[in-house]
Amino acid sequence: MEDLATKYKLPARLLHWTMALLVLGMIPVGFLMLNETLSREIRNTMFIAHKNTGTLLLILIVARLIYRWLNPPKLKPVELPALQEFAARATHVGLYALLLIMPLSGYIRVRAGGFPIEALDALGVPALVPRSDALAEFAKMVHLYAGYAIVALVAMHVGAAAFHGLVRRDGIFSRMWPVFSKDAR
Ligand code: HEM
Repeated sequence: MEDLATKYKLPARLLHWTMALLVLGMIPVGFLMLNETLSREIRNTMFIAHKNTGTLLLILIVARLIYRWLNPPKLKPVELPALQEFAARATHVGLYALLLIMPLSGYIRVRAGGFPIEALDALGVPALVPRSDALAEFAKMVHLYAGYAIVALVAMHVGAAAFHGLVRRDGIFSRMWPVFSKDAR
């Protein structure tokens, strides 16, 4: 019989928690940097952090999807009611999709608008989309609505993780936690 694991592999856990921390920072900064009651300096600093960290997140999600495709997780199944199983799958697929849509739409919004992405500019990476106000406006709208959707899905995901970790204690949370530990069997 195949030897199934009780934990995700270390690279999967590292990618998960690094991205979780960065995304949890990106969401409030994304809304706050548009708040005109804050000083120009603070908003500019937040814009620079948001654009460059978001670009890093685009690279990380592509790396994560490739890693998962090359190393599909082989985990011991945990019995769950069918509806919970379905909700978990739908949330995970939605999160993966939004983790691609958010940085892509942000990138297009900024580049099509003709604005800098400081880290890429320093590395000499040119804009990969043409300058276009219509495209920038469209990407801005996608970024805004996908932003609301990711807030909802992150809330569901964190709620479910807390339920499994603190109430059911069924081993689902400890598949992804702690970050550093052996890939236990
Ligand atoms: C996972 C990655 C990302 C998350 C979770 C995220 C989240 C958000 C959120 C919640 C907002 C406020 C809602 C809105 O007005 O759109 C926002 C705004 C914004 N984000 Fe992102 N973002 C991400 C990646 C990026 C990237 C890669 C860029 C650009 C390189 C970017 C550029 C912007 C800009 C320019 C705005 C202001 C939109 C406007 O022009 O009004 N974002 N982001």
